Amino acid sequence: MNEPAPELPAPLLSAAVIQARVQELGQFISRDYADKELAIVAVLAGSFVFAADLCRAIELPLSVDFLGVRSYGDSTSTSGVVRITHDLMRPIEGKHVLLVEDIVDTGLTVRFLMDNLQTRRPASLRLASLLNKPERARVSVPIDYLGFTIEDVFVVGYGLDHAQRYRNLPYIGVLQS
Ligand code: IMP
Ligand code: MG
Repeated sequence: MNEPAPELPAPLLSAAVIQARVQELGQFISRDYADKELAIVAVLAGSFVFAADLCRAIELPLSVDFLGVRSYGDSTSTSGVVRITHDLMRPIEGKHVLLVEDIVDTGLTVRFLMDNLQTRRPASLRLASLLNKPERARVSVPIDYLGFTIEDVFVVGYGLDHAQRYRNLPYIGVLQS
């Protein structure tokens, strides 16, 4: 039982920097959708912390629903295969939908989800992502509301995991191997 304590991920984006940016994104969204009602669709599980903070930074009437997807195993590289593991509880037809993701890496997950949601005939469909790793893009997906562009490093914290761990870190850090 004398395992050494695991090293904490090296900080990349502090909790304060993330909070300031999330507040800004909330203001942009509140302004762009003024007088409309928003349907937030958060992608489980990675975006749960971002979605919780973002929706509280938006001053509009809104609903929140969740989509579960699986594109990775417990490894740090994509399988390229996307599968819905938990579908929305309510229809989005005629609604102004904002898909909320934690990170766009290869882009395969958001490409699949945007195409899937579009077939459900929302009034409008936009994408918010906390992070983008453009160096890894395999398909290009425009991000309407982006928190931060980062380099090609594997990050954890603020909802993002590695093998289900680190989601509760208040900051975003790089796993040291
Ligand atoms: P994509 O389909 O390659 O864009 O992968 C998107 C998904 O992979 C994200 O929703 C995350 O769940 C996961 N992912 C990609 N990069 C990272 C990372 O650096 N840290 C944690 N999860 C990641
Ligand atoms: Mg995810």
